Amino acid sequence: MKAPVRVTVTGPAGQIGYATLFRIASGAMFGPDQPVFLTLLERANPTSAAALKGVMMELSDCAFPLLAGMRAVQDPVEAFRDCEVALLIGARPRGPGMERADLLEANAAIFRQQGQALNVAASRNVKVLVVGNPCNTNAWIAMKNAPDLDPKCFSAMLRLDQNRAMSQFAEKTGAPVASIEHMAVWGNHSPAMVPDITFATVEGKAAPSLVDDEWVKNDFMPTVAKRGSAIIAARGASSAASAGSAAIDHIHDWFCGSEGRWVTMGVPSDGSYGVPEGMVFGFPCIVKEDGSYEIVKGLELTEDTKARIAKNVAELQGEQQAVAAFIPN
Ligand code: NAD
Ligand code: LMR
Repeated sequence: MKAPVRVTVTGPAGQIGYATLFRIASGAMFGPDQPVFLTLLERANPTSAAALKGVMMELSDCAFPLLAGMRAVQDPVEAFRDCEVALLIGARPRGPGMERADLLEANAAIFRQQGQALNVAASRNVKVLVVGNPCNTNAWIAMKNAPDLDPKCFSAMLRLDQNRAMSQFAEKTGAPVASIEHMAVWGNHSPAMVPDITFATVEGKAAPSLVDDEWVKNDFMPTVAKRGSAIIAARGASSAASAGSAAIDHIHDWFCGSEGRWVTMGVPSDGSYGVPEGMVFGFPCIVKEDGSYEIVKGLELTEDTKARIAKNVAELQGEQQAVAAFIPN
């Protein structure tokens, strides 16, 4: 039997927490022979604590063979002690009529504190996935507050955007989702993001040859980019099951390797494609079997994609300025 992977999840009593924990414990994240130990960090108020207690009762009632143990912890340093994988979900979600910018300040303090705690206590190889929005900038805040950890420990979730892009393309062409490769989404997890089919293939055929440009620009790209808002409008609450599923996909491929497939991850830029070094940005990545990843390099981007990437850089620079007070000198 393998040693359990130590996983810390924040916001476990929320919607995404509820949609994710049972799948982690069932083996969907790390595979069918890999036990997990869950540490759950919730807000300390009585309502959240009671809700978390109920979630833990249900986890226990599932009698998952791979769940080696679990604990609820209220102190962030204790919660991240020796953790190997951290899912930072806990944050305020956007409600109807709210813009993402409204969340910036509300959530920045959480990610400063959690970055500091990870810096002190987590495994030096921890894999951190920030789901809480605005996720690129929150991941950047956590990374900047954890100077003793490799910046490559930190990532933001754009996998939901990749999954949405693949699904939209599959629906349009009638191709199975599994036949689509090299779909990319560049930039910020915001309506400015750049879903990009330029390099995608479907059963080996070039994706751009299967659809017309008008559909790509006027339908596919805005549908993917604004899907979060469309779900809020339809459900009255932000996406949860699909967000949890994307978090499982992101960590699965980061932990186990992507077997040569491109996976979109929000990661600190190494300066590729004109994105300033250190900015947490959606890039197509390939993850090796040992869990190290590389941004896919040397792609010939269209002029349109370059211009859209520049717009995302400017948007993220604006977000970084807005949270400057949360970054240590
Ligand atoms: P939710 O309100 O249902 O749950 C959030 C949970 O986090 C609550 O239980 C709350 O008590 C907890 N929490 C808040 N502050 C905390 C803290 N400091 N420490 C620990 N726990 C804390 O929200 P949700 O629907 O689960 O969404 C969570 C976040 O994920 C939101 O910011 C949302 O916008 C974001 N999100 C991101 C994506 C993405 O693709 N990146 C997709 C969907 C949602
Ligand atoms: C999503 O993409 O579904 C979430 O990020 C929700 C949001 O606020 O857009």
